[in-house]
Amino acid sequence: MTTTEFKNLISRGIPAELPPPKPYDPAINHAPKRKDLLTPSEKRLALRNALRYFPAELHRILAGEFAEELRDYGRIYMYRFRPEYEIKARHIDDFPHNSRKVAAIMLMISNNLDVAVAQHPHELITYGGNGAVFQNWAQYLLTMRYLSEMTDDQTLVMYSGHPAGLFPSHRDAPRVVVTNGMMIPNYSSQDDWERFNAMGVTQYGQMTAGSYMYIGPQGIVHGTTITILNAGRIRGGKECSLRGKLFVSSGLGGMSGAQPKAAKIAGVISVIAEVNPKAIRTRYSQGWIDEVIENPDSLVNRIRKAIEKKEVVSIGYQGNIVEVWEKLADEGIKVDLGSDQTSLHNPWAGGYYPAGLSFDESNRMMSSDPENFKKCVKKSLVRQVAAINRHTAMGTYFFDYGNAFLLEASRAGADILKPDGEFRYHSYVQDIMGPLCFDYGFGPFRWVCCSNDPADLETTDKIAIRVLNRLMKSSPDQVKQQMADNIQWIKEAGKNRLVVGSQARILYADAEGRIALAAAFNRAVFSGKIKAPVVIGRDHHDVSGTDSPYRETSNIYDGSRFTSDMAVQNVIGDSFRGSTWVSIHNGGGVGWGEVINGGFGMLLDGTRDTGRKLEMMLHWDVNNGIARRSWARNEGAMFTIKREMERTPGLKVTVPNLVDDEIINCLFES
Ligand SMILES: NC(=O)c1ccc[n+]([C@@H]2O[C@H](COP(=O)([O-])OP(=O)(O)OC[C@H]3O[C@@H](n4cnc5c(N)ncnc54)[C@H](O)[C@@H]3O)[C@@H](O)[C@H]2O)c1
Repeated sequence: MTTTEFKNLISRGIPAELPPPKPYDPAINHAPKRKDLLTPSEKRLALRNALRYFPAELHRILAGEFAEELRDYGRIYMYRFRPEYEIKARHIDDFPHNSRKVAAIMLMISNNLDVAVAQHPHELITYGGNGAVFQNWAQYLLTMRYLSEMTDDQTLVMYSGHPAGLFPSHRDAPRVVVTNGMMIPNYSSQDDWERFNAMGVTQYGQMTAGSYMYIGPQGIVHGTTITILNAGRIRGGKECSLRGKLFVSSGLGGMSGAQPKAAKIAGVISVIAEVNPKAIRTRYSQGWIDEVIENPDSLVNRIRKAIEKKEVVSIGYQGNIVEVWEKLADEGIKVDLGSDQTSLHNPWAGGYYPAGLSFDESNRMMSSDPENFKKCVKKSLVRQVAAINRHTAMGTYFFDYGNAFLLEASRAGADILKPDGEFRYHSYVQDIMGPLCFDYGFGPFRWVCCSNDPADLETTDKIAIRVLNRLMKSSPDQVKQQMADNIQWIKEAGKNRLVVGSQARILYADAEGRIALAAAFNRAVFSGKIKAPVVIGRDHHDVSGTDSPYRETSNIYDGSRFTSDMAVQNVIGDSFRGSTWVSIHNGGGVGWGEVINGGFGMLLDGTRDTGRKLEMMLHWDVNNGIARRSWARNEGAMFTIKREMERTPGLKVTVPNLVDDEIINCLFES
């Protein structure tokens, strides 16, 4: 297909004539069938809602087809309307547009739906089992058409995948404002998501799925490498080597699939269990796992050999993680580091596969007998925790990986609570990301080269190394390790060949680093050193963008971790300081109703105006969270915000006075 033909198809939007039906492709990784909990009148409503996108003359034929989809898959995806052309990142100018800012957004949306990138591409799901870009193909087609025709004097409003329309605005406003899954709080349970998503009125945007900021597994490889390295340092001290140490976890899916790759970069032996044969095959074919083992005894022998020889090897175990924990405990194998990355934010609809049931049995049972399936999940979590407890008694450092493992295990009645009601184990944010990264402003800054040319990415890597090396010279001791880890990462990034999809890169940087990097890229776009504009953004899993009491804000101890003012303030502040698009979501990562998270995207087009906006926006985007973390009395954040106030005229943040605990404790002594 020529570029002109592609452009014409995008500009056409929803075709006036019905395209031929699309056969269900069994070679593609499809979303599991969703629970059927709509009443007959709600099913009628779901059909009426879906047919709103089409003219009346098509209703009769589409109504029957959509009813079948609802029955067979639990959702109406409108498969027939999936385009024939390849959906993927392309050069920014290959997308039809009246605004390059908008063309960049089209590139980012296309990357999120690329079959090589997305987890369930035909169901428009990028990662995490339910992280949707759109609810159905009509929304995709209509959105792309709006984007192709809009100007810098309009803003596109996105309601959970549904393009509400183009509204007049102004050049400095965001071009797109995205909300995903925003619910009235009392209607935000897991079952509410199933019901309202099936009706077609809301979606689970995860974090970077529904905000068009996913960059494939690279984003998560970097975060996971930092986590494993620092988990090792927590146990063995700053200088410790992970050589010959064993890391056990589960999941080789969207994000979890990064674990074996990160473990190799960190230099540890890893065993990752995965029940889905397709997922394990994908990671093996990518070379992200070195070996696949299906038999528990062979696994034990292989681990013993790897420990003895201090190999750096990644082993995928095709089976249930519960079996692995139990078997290794029975055999007395010492696990140094342990975690879990099943999708427990989505426990009843395919996120967690219980021990004792095969993968196929589980897939059938979760929709045909959801109540019993729920019981099996709970029983399995109780077993899993019992086995993990045996390991931690032998010295394993176990941490929750932000997948709601501790939360769901406690709800299942597992032995996971201490007498004071706190969890037995910490989350990776409590121990690692929070105190070492977020409190100092370090978070997952990322960029995408809109030329789609690897040479541009290489140029940006070189610029990044130069900028970080310069900043490191004046870094305070508290952040030198972070800087060093990231310089090391970016030096190796090209060699590690982490790009899947768009020409993207990630590293952790603080406010000063993010601003310096973005400004340097903007100058390079202006001078032509980089051939086309660059998108900057971040994962929502960051300093300021996310309020999530069991993950991003789990190291906030002043009682405010159940509030979400920070995330809401963040997106409002980003939008009037110059971001190109903004998003705010309910539900990413740890579950519907458990988190509010937001993000932004910004196009660096090489102009002076963008230079001014990037400074203002990135400064707020990081320091909002530092101010909040400092008010919560987090030591690193208090240090960072004071330093920032010295550097930034006009910044005056309310800082806490610390009270001597004795003064309070003596009031309650008797
Ligand atoms: N990697 C990170 O840095 C990070 C950060 C925060 C949160 N998380 C969380 O991690 C979870 C996983 O994310 P994902 O994108 O990989 O999801 P995913 O659904 O793509 O992958 C999870 C995988 O776990 C497998 N699985 C489920 N139950 C299993 C079991 N009992 N034994 C073995 N395998 C099992 C599934 O088959 C699936 O492939 C999510 O809840 C996510 O929010 C990850």
